Amino acid sequence: MGPTWAQLTWGALPPGSVTIANRDRTETVEHPGGPGSHIVEDLPPGTETELVVTVPGGGKISLSAKTIVAPWGEELSKFATVSDLHLGSRRWGFFKTMTEPTGQFDDPHPIRCARAALQEAVAWGAELLVIKGDAAHHEDQASVNILGALIDEFPDLPMLLIPGNHDVDDGAGSLPGAIGRRKLAYSTVDHVDLPGVRIVVADSTKPSYGSGSLAAVSTAIIDRVADADRPAFVGLHHQLQSTKIPRYYPKGIPAPESTDFLDRLSKVRPGAVVSSGHTHRNRVRRHGDVLVTEVASTKDWPGVWGAYTVYDGGICQAVRRIGEPSAMSWTEYSQRAVAGLWSKWSPGKLEDRCLSHVWARDPHLVG
Ligand SMILES: [Fe+2]
Ligand SMILES: [Fe+2]
Repeated sequence: MGPTWAQLTWGALPPGSVTIANRDRTETVEHPGGPGSHIVEDLPPGTETELVVTVPGGGKISLSAKTIVAPWGEELSKFATVSDLHLGSRRWGFFKTMTEPTGQFDDPHPIRCARAALQEAVAWGAELLVIKGDAAHHEDQASVNILGALIDEFPDLPMLLIPGNHDVDDGAGSLPGAIGRRKLAYSTVDHVDLPGVRIVVADSTKPSYGSGSLAAVSTAIIDRVADADRPAFVGLHHQLQSTKIPRYYPKGIPAPESTDFLDRLSKVRPGAVVSSGHTHRNRVRRHGDVLVTEVASTKDWPGVWGAYTVYDGGICQAVRRIGEPSAMSWTEYSQRAVAGLWSKWSPGKLEDRCLSHVWARDPHLVG
């Protein structure tokens, strides 16, 4: 759900026409069968709209779509995030027994999912892509080559790239060299300014560990945020735990390190946003005036990317499912992981995925 659009997805329908009607108009989608997705556009912000969906065979379903309220002011910029692409992986599930039959598709599911996410982000209008780690499944040349080939398919899309624990899992410290024809480099700390927001990314990995730390980068992040003349969005791979002992798997960055960082961030830029990956799950919490989100993986259920719209007064996060049919055929199957519990665990609640965040009043930016 965004300020003006709603995403409708389905796990399996027979081939035929899917009709979506609201008060203002009726759209018809020719569906080849199987899973599918459709974006209903031009909805009024902050409004509940009834959608009547007619499926092949004539059955009707009535749904309610409530768009989020956009912050005040002009729309200034749009960017997208992806994380946990795990390019090079083939298997999924608690015992890594879930896989696809050889030859069913030209490319393995992580590549199809990542490519479709980037295509959809470009079509949506993203001016920048932030890759928040675990781009590669392992720290090896074969995975680097897959990542490079993917990046090269999008030569006009500016990107920021930080590593996740999987990208540095052989202890060498980072994937080797520059990646793809544009020689995109993994960054320790980097930033890009878009209209209305500074996007800062930082490497939270500890080589050979699954968990993360900000010890080497926290001061540099704070300095880059403080130097900006605009609100801040910080992208990390590891989630900032609110407790020392993790309350869910996998381990991220434990308290008090995480809470100390959030306190410092709030002091220099009240109302900043921090978003991570790593947990392959959608989740949101607030630390004082700082918004803290986790966005799920591209390559396993529900298979998503993050769409961010920046306004004068704040920012909207909308987590979108990747709607390309061959990607969805895998992500639908992948929800059966952990005896089916993954289907309930990973998506989070709607308010974990789609929300509007108003920038806090910031004395550093006034006047
Ligand atoms: Fe991951
Ligand atoms: Fe990770």
